[in-house]
Amino acid sequence: MSLKGKYALITGSSRGIGRAIALKLAECGAKIGVHYYKNIDAANDTLAKVRERRSDGFIVQADVNRTDDIRGMMDHVKSEFGKLDIFVSNARPEIPEFYKPPMEIRVEQWQQAINSQATAFLLGAQLAAPLMGRGGRIIAITHSPGARSGSWQPWVGMGSAKAAMESLVRYFAVALARRGITVNSLSPGVIFGAANLVDGGVLVGLPPEVQQAIKSWHEIGWCPSRRTGTPQDVANATMLICMEESNWMTGQIFYVDGGASIMDPVFPLEIQGAA
Ligand SMILES: NC(=O)c1ccc[n+]([C@@H]2O[C@H](COP(=O)([O-])OP(=O)(O)OC[C@H]3O[C@@H](n4cnc5c(N)ncnc54)[C@H](OP(=O)(O)O)[C@@H]3O)[C@@H](O)[C@H]2O)c1
Repeated sequence: MSLKGKYALITGSSRGIGRAIALKLAECGAKIGVHYYKNIDAANDTLAKVRERRSDGFIVQADVNRTDDIRGMMDHVKSEFGKLDIFVSNARPEIPEFYKPPMEIRVEQWQQAINSQATAFLLGAQLAAPLMGRGGRIIAITHSPGARSGSWQPWVGMGSAKAAMESLVRYFAVALARRGITVNSLSPGVIFGAANLVDGGVLVGLPPEVQQAIKSWHEIGWCPSRRTGTPQDVANATMLICMEESNWMTGQIFYVDGGASIMDPVFPLEIQGAA
């Protein structure tokens, strides 16, 4: 499958899922804008790996909590590429920036979540679309369980922010459909990459016993495919959405979770016959 001649910007592609997406799209021939926040070395390393895949691109710094930075990032894309075909809104602040339960979260922490997800997507899509022609792709990386449930208490800020982001995806999908641009959300399940913070995704920073508990939960059957995901699983799905053949799929949330989101949490596994 080819993305030759396409230009992509992936926010948060210095590390984790964003980096895997950048490398997959590069492998398919797209030129890549590698966005980072603080880790310039990781961003340069992503770009070097993009070049190893016989593609090219550039790195660009921005804090997605700041609207001026987002404008600067898009200006940079315009001056480097002159156009854009794929915009993936993936960056997310570090967990301590927003991780507090409903009765404790401070307004500044709430704003970190909302600004980095909803406002950044709103402005990013508004600025990306004019750079796109027919066949353009705008993709929001969400976490849909957090956006619709209420059980993971310290996720209230990010869950609410992802819910707003998913809603924006539907509105932009309608707004841009006649221009041939699709807008979708992609919702990864639990993702563990290599055991380092550059390639692993945020969860590899959890204490080992917590990581193991999450993995065991998936393996006993709460994920029908009996495993957690990898950044490459998410990158592969992103690549499929970017293909020309996906041009009639818009406004959707695509779950990339081995089936975890279709499990019924009300009954124990033994009763469901899924153990
Ligand atoms: N990991 C999972 O299990 C999982 C599951 C579902 C959904 N997701 C979603 O997938 C996306 C990526 O998650 P991940 O685990 O791969 O993330 P990660 O490994 O923690 O990487 C975060 C990325 O965001 C950038 N970033 C951090 N703060 C920023 C800021 N203020 N402004 C701009 N960029 C900033 C980082 O740049 P620097 O390297 O420069 O710091 C880095 O590139 C997120 O939207 C997350 O909600 C993840």
